[in-house]
Amino acid sequence: MDFQKPKGTLDFLPGTVEKWQYVERKAHDLARRFNYREVRTPIFEYTQLFQRGVGETTDIVQKEMFSFQDMGGRNMTLRPEGTAGVVRAYVENKLFGEPDVSKLFYIGPMFRQERPQAGRYRQFHQFGIEAIGSVEPAIDAEVIAFGLQFFEDIGLKGTSVEINSVGNTASREAYNERLLAFLNPMRDSLCKDCQNRIDRNPLRVLDCKVDHDKFADAPSILDSLDEESLTHFEAVQRNLTAMGVAYTINPRLVRGLDYYTLTAFEFKTQSGIGAIDTIGGGGRYNKLVAEVGGPDQPGIGMAIGMERLQLLLADQQTEIDDKRPLDVYLIALGEKASAEITKQLHALRKLGFSAERDYLDRKMKAQMKSADRLEARYTVILGDDELERGEIAVKSMETREQVTVKLEDLASALK
Ligand code: HAM
Repeated sequence: MDFQKPKGTLDFLPGTVEKWQYVERKAHDLARRFNYREVRTPIFEYTQLFQRGVGETTDIVQKEMFSFQDMGGRNMTLRPEGTAGVVRAYVENKLFGEPDVSKLFYIGPMFRQERPQAGRYRQFHQFGIEAIGSVEPAIDAEVIAFGLQFFEDIGLKGTSVEINSVGNTASREAYNERLLAFLNPMRDSLCKDCQNRIDRNPLRVLDCKVDHDKFADAPSILDSLDEESLTHFEAVQRNLTAMGVAYTINPRLVRGLDYYTLTAFEFKTQSGIGAIDTIGGGGRYNKLVAEVGGPDQPGIGMAIGMERLQLLLADQQTEIDDKRPLDVYLIALGEKASAEITKQLHALRKLGFSAERDYLDRKMKAQMKSADRLEARYTVILGDDELERGEIAVKSMETREQVTVKLEDLASALK
């Protein structure tokens, strides 16, 4: 029987993982500069959390969740996104009791049963941030600026952000009415999904991939914003401008999750990944904390798809600091020397050197080739004769110069 990885998943092998670690290092550093602290929540949660949080009318909840029953018959789901779990943890651990805004970040796998394609997988990874506890437009702008700064930090080119406001509850109710008046006459000509969406959540119709072109003349949500929503949206823009962050307003931008209020945005790439041009997105969720049983606290956040970043970095041939050269490769010639090399190897590793030896009983030449492949800075060569004299040869792989040192001086010679 041949085993294969599940459909829509990826293996990341050495060589690739270093590129992920590079992006993760940049993520951690940016989070530090913006004062976001890491949070780690379970990979699976009670299904209800996502039904409630992400929303019953979303594609995610309706058809994309990996759900199962545990042995106690409880309904569980592999997290399809990070926000619901973080908000659940915020409520459960009473972070709302802390004096400052909770600024949290996470990097980890998410799961959606989508049709796989380039840039779309069933297990994928998000880098996300959530700021819970403030309605200030300045923090909306911060979250947007954070995303763009991240792209700049990792060296990605051609990224931009589109912003919109989906309004507060009152504005959205007003808009839904106007949108329904526009959609109802064309109801029969729309795809099955859209016909469903009209009844459940008309806003989501605008996001339809099939009927997209039919909505060019749909009313703009921006015309339905009440004063509170409009004032907030304008202040977000003023803050972005103050930071020198370029943005475009896209009044058609709707997100695939139901929890958004007011600000919504998406990060775009010029180059595209197949048919996909979105690399991240987010927005404000002023009702979600209360929705999952917490106090009436507002929040805003965003998440970026890490696989998509990697595809773009590779496409753009971005220079990545992913080299992990070895400090020293130890070669033993003879049985006694081999035992001494084992001892020296361990001592060097304890001292902080990265060090390796041969475990395949290969000839000197093959071992030298290994040292080259591992980009070792030094090779250390020990034969039984040298061992008797208490000496060892140290060769610089860069200059190809070789010196002989006392065994006990090996570490200091390598330093
Ligand atoms: P989302 O737009 O559903 O938002 O996902 C954010 C990003 O995750 C997408 O832009 C994309 O880069 C990546 N992504 C989503 N699905 C897949 C997939 N199947 N394969 C590969 N990458 C994917 C959220 O998840 C929200 N939780 C963002 C947020 C945080 N809003 C507020 N706070």
